[in-house]
Amino acid sequence: MHENGSYSGGTGSGRPTFGPVVMGVSRETPGPLTISGSGGLYQAHGASVDSLRFGFAPTDVPGPRAMADSGGGAAVEPTTAMPVYQGSGGPNIIISAAGNRGRSSDMDGVRQSRDAEDPPLAQEAKRAIQILNPSGEIQMPRPPQMRVFCVSNQKGGVGKTTSVVNIAVALALHGNRVLVIDLDPQGNASTGLDVPHHAAVPDVYDCLVADTPISDVVQKVQGIPNLWCVPATIDLAGAEIELVSMVARESRLARALEQHDGEYDYIFIDCPPSLGLLTVNALVAAKEVMIPIQCEYYALEGVQQLTNNIQLVKNHLNPALEVTTVLLTMYDRRTRLADAVEQDVRAHFGDRVLTAVIPRNVRVSEAPSYGQSVMTYDPGSRGATSYFEAALEIAMRGAQVGAS
Ligand SMILES: Nc1ncnc2c1ncn2[C@@H]1O[C@H](COP(=O)(O)OP(=O)(O)O)[C@@H](O)[C@H]1O
Ligand SMILES: [Mg+2]
Repeated sequence: MHENGSYSGGTGSGRPTFGPVVMGVSRETPGPLTISGSGGLYQAHGASVDSLRFGFAPTDVPGPRAMADSGGGAAVEPTTAMPVYQGSGGPNIIISAAGNRGRSSDMDGVRQSRDAEDPPLAQEAKRAIQILNPSGEIQMPRPPQMRVFCVSNQKGGVGKTTSVVNIAVALALHGNRVLVIDLDPQGNASTGLDVPHHAAVPDVYDCLVADTPISDVVQKVQGIPNLWCVPATIDLAGAEIELVSMVARESRLARALEQHDGEYDYIFIDCPPSLGLLTVNALVAAKEVMIPIQCEYYALEGVQQLTNNIQLVKNHLNPALEVTTVLLTMYDRRTRLADAVEQDVRAHFGDRVLTAVIPRNVRVSEAPSYGQSVMTYDPGSRGATSYFEAALEIAMRGAQVGAS
């Protein structure tokens, strides 16, 4: 069972639940408020929490004070993936993600949660509100410095684009300023965010090849606050070849981003499924690498080649580069194989692997055809919940980096 568990919630129920107290609590009394949860215990300090904003909570659910008074234990409402908030008159900032990553004892809870059936409608509605965050009150902590992620895996179809789109949307919906750079000539991230990217649209190709400033090509993502996208058009298909003969060909994206340091909290660069010059440009421009790994047989094949390339870039072009985040995608709980792959990946990458694992979920694959992320297309789905948890873990790690 998890201590501090995002999945089993410390009660052993195995069902991932989102405690109602964490959603849109309103504080009448000014002053610091902390709702902290660990292993099934909420503690409230300072102000009282007197109303649940969205009305989805059953009336007999105790407020956080009552939960704290009950002293935890099995009788307490299970904790959630995002049990800890800190507010001081402003928005509620999540100050602690649940879950201890990478510890094998935690994996039981993780697996249990993935085995759980779909939650009842009310729980789904609660999740949806939490994820869509219409009041803007719930915030994920912002990193002290801009974080630039290269999202890469030279295998196609492992969930790079899906992860970029959904994690970016989740962070943006919770108070972070996020830029997605579509660096794949297929333009899937642009499609997923519903950003125009037909042939005449200025795009990332212009930044790479013609030194056009990012600010001239960036587009606001409609319907999501704080989210922007640099699209990719079909022009980008030629960039790989055109770049070969250019000066400073590996660092052209880095140069373009230089002028935007600090303008965003997160930049996610969605790479093509290759290790060519476009990916090298992303690796030089980024500080962190996120590797999505699909839970299937050849999962780790090719990853060694990717890490070799990352090491080369680190040695010669970008000493700050680190693989900080590995995300398991398309986990199919019906197969033993997915389990085996998960164990392999965790053994290989240790605590760089996020505790949150993305299940194979049909809503995730449907969303792009509506020009949406799964976060907005079906915010109550398991796909959306998992991406929310992944985004939260990323945000919490960023906040910890800043704190140390
Ligand atoms: N968790 C998931 N559940 C179901 N389908 C998924 C999931 N993640 C991705 N897909 C689908 O798998 C395909 C490949 O995903 P994509 O993100 O485009 O991979 P990549 O960018 O690595 O090529 C897409 O059709 C996408 O909709
Ligand atoms: Mg892609």
